[in-house]
Amino acid sequence: MIRVCTVVGARPQFVKASVVSRAFKDRGDIHETIIHTGQHYDANMSTVFFTELGIPNPDHNLGVGSARHGAQTGRIMERLEPVLLNVGPDCVLVYGDTNSTLAAAVVASKLHFPVAHVEAGLRSFNRRMPEELNRILTDHCSTLLFPPTERAKANLAAEGIVGDRVRQVGDVMLDVAKAHETIIPEVESILANHRLVSGAFILATIHRAENTDDPTRLASIFDGLARVARVIPVLIPVHPRTRSIISTLSSESSLESIFMIEPVGYLSMLGLVRSCALVATDSGGLQKEAFFCRKPCVTLRSETEWVELVELGWNRTVPNPAADCVAEVILTSLGTKGTDAAPYGDGRASSHIAAAIAEIEF
Ligand code: UD1
Repeated sequence: MIRVCTVVGARPQFVKASVVSRAFKDRGDIHETIIHTGQHYDANMSTVFFTELGIPNPDHNLGVGSARHGAQTGRIMERLEPVLLNVGPDCVLVYGDTNSTLAAAVVASKLHFPVAHVEAGLRSFNRRMPEELNRILTDHCSTLLFPPTERAKANLAAEGIVGDRVRQVGDVMLDVAKAHETIIPEVESILANHRLVSGAFILATIHRAENTDDPTRLASIFDGLARVARVIPVLIPVHPRTRSIISTLSSESSLESIFMIEPVGYLSMLGLVRSCALVATDSGGLQKEAFFCRKPCVTLRSETEWVELVELGWNRTVPNPAADCVAEVILTSLGTKGTDAAPYGDGRASSHIAAAIAEIEF
């Protein structure tokens, strides 16, 4: 039996881990211990994902909560080390690019536990993003790397990470979307509460530090969305960090024209993506979910790691955060379609990951 320790802590990691945990169970030769760092802790940022995606309860919760980058990352490292020493895994599995990912990768690699990184090789080439630093450092601590795309694999090669330890398996987010293909999420009440008509509203999310940490930039993006809302309604499930900042913003436009709701779980979000006309977001996962539902997407950043979506014409970035620019890119993208393609693999990335972990000699 191979013993894997999975470390998760933030919303998108719960979603990705759900299908990989399932693939481990289906094989029967991998025993998984799940460690939740506690980076996300609100019911609608954490518990809802475990419940609706059927993820086993974490075996350990490190309860680190929110803090500045150094303190949060340091706390995770300090609390994770004794747990890993106690479990003694064959491999530590981490996802994506959060502080939980980096902390686990550093602790595990220093204890000489091999690290496997799902979503390796993504690069924005913008080192001001905390996520970019987390990704680069995690990739360089990892023994087994799972880039989701050709481009991600090429990014790793450009940094000297090559060979059998790099396995391009596809994107686990596609597996999750496929697993819920036939489910019809109940979003009627959300739409009815705001008199929204299916197919005739914009779904937006904003939470990245690069957008929220600068109040002028955030106000400008919201002004752009308010201009869009004069043409077509805008619905925003608001991340708690964004909510606390927008309450202090001096925005030129009335935010009353934008419908803001609490964060929603994976299934409701899937239902909203299926129902909307366009997605406007700074989330990485949502850019791909828009594509899986073949909806146009505007990335509320000047660059994206998911460059293939831009090349295929499904995604446009916003060159600068000026309200005019945000509004123009969104309004001109409405009703557009890109080219069909399958850049994210065969929808079986999770079983390829499980197979690679089972077969590799660490
Ligand atoms: C983190 C990731 C980001 C990822 C996102 C997914 C890092 C550096 N960033 O950003 O890459 O896209 O998760 O959502 O790891 N808060 C709550 N309740 C919660 C969680 C957070 O109120 O359950 C608030 C706190 O005020 C906290 C702030 O949100 O200070 C930021 O949370 P944090 O986990 O530090 O980063 P995210 O913005 O969620």
